[in-house]
Amino acid sequence: MKKTPETIVLLNFGCADIQKIARAIRNRRYYTMVMPRNVPLERLREENPSGLIICADKQAQDFPDDRQRFAASGIPLLQLTAEPADGYAANVEQAIAFCRDDCHCQGLWDLDKFLDEAVADVRAQVGDQQVVLGLSGGVDSSVVAAILNKAIGKQLTCVFVNHGLLRKNEPELVQEVFGRNFQINLRYVDATDRFLDKLKGVKDPEIKRKIIGKEFIDVFAEEAAKLNAPFLGQGTIYPDILESIPFDGSKDGVIKSHHNVGGLPENLKFQLVEPLERLFKDEVRAVGRKLGLPSEILDRHPFPGPSLGVRHVGAIERDTLNILREADAIVTEELLKSGWYHKTWQTFAIFVPVKTVGMKNGKRTYDYVIAIRSINTVDAVTAQVVHLPWELIDTMTRRIISEVDGVNRVVYDTTPKPPGTIEWE
Ligand code: XMP
Repeated sequence: MKKTPETIVLLNFGCADIQKIARAIRNRRYYTMVMPRNVPLERLREENPSGLIICADKQAQDFPDDRQRFAASGIPLLQLTAEPADGYAANVEQAIAFCRDDCHCQGLWDLDKFLDEAVADVRAQVGDQQVVLGLSGGVDSSVVAAILNKAIGKQLTCVFVNHGLLRKNEPELVQEVFGRNFQINLRYVDATDRFLDKLKGVKDPEIKRKIIGKEFIDVFAEEAAKLNAPFLGQGTIYPDILESIPFDGSKDGVIKSHHNVGGLPENLKFQLVEPLERLFKDEVRAVGRKLGLPSEILDRHPFPGPSLGVRHVGAIERDTLNILREADAIVTEELLKSGWYHKTWQTFAIFVPVKTVGMKNGKRTYDYVIAIRSINTVDAVTAQVVHLPWELIDTMTRRIISEVDGVNRVVYDTTPKPPGTIEWE
């Protein structure tokens, strides 16, 4: 269904920055969509676009037939071809002038209106039926929970699975925000024993990930089955959809159905409710703010699904996991206190299952190593090590060694990506 009165479609002719350009134009209140260069005109016309912008990294006039199709469509067309070295800012200004002067758009994209529409859409889709949502406490699922709560209140049940690998105070935060503040029906499932028993003695990182992933699906599916809800909420956002389409599109250029339901069993057939599927990440955060979600949820660092499991090298034992959890809490606390939390993409502790010799209170110790890793990145594909102030690293080190039993040495990971990955496992 056509929602926005003005849509500008960016056609991807091989442009690395296309999402950034789309986002930057939206920021100036012109609603943008991205489509592959071979999208059929009928599909394009469903969006009733006010203008088309061809985006390519090279000046070369590749794909002349597709260019010709769009030029002949009668829809205003701008051809941005830019060398990547030029960056994308100049392109954005050109695109804005095109939207305003050639397409006569007024700039009507507005997140308040989006929110009203999203709420109305959810109500229309769901009627008086029940929706279940897997709530991780991450940004996307949290904002979906807040939208669904506004739209359908008690018809929503959120399932929050504690797999035992969460950071310190994370279960409490989620229960506080969603259970007590928002008064959402929240099923808190403490599956710690189930996960840690399965992980016992497993050292291989890939096997650990598989166990965590499979067990997670099993626990969630069991809970969801008890609720007997026909609808499943999903935190799919626009980049998830775009990243599932190669720039040539699928064979016929039609957006393939995507799903990040991630292996729920066949017998659990849900209809998906995906109220964020048109939004970029910063728009998701802005909507979350409008709905009253706290900064602790909206502005947190990205955190991997397998959680502390990929930051605990080797076999996970309860006591060593606890060492990691305590060390990680100190790193985060000092980062927040110093103002560096929001200047880094991810900063965290890693448990290294190596014992070294040290001294504590005049006595010889033989204890574990904690590593600290701090990186900045734009897209998590490459990453640079953050030069945290030495005083901050020093404070973290002293606190970890004095407050966390079982650790007598802290090291700083100075490896960029590549060759290192961001997580250690
Ligand atoms: P790597 O370690 O591959 O991480 O350099 C790149 C980014 O992805 C995050 N990451 C994950 N996120 N599930 C997730 O949701 C995962 O299994 C996973 N593994 C890594 C990582 O934190 C970093 O931001």
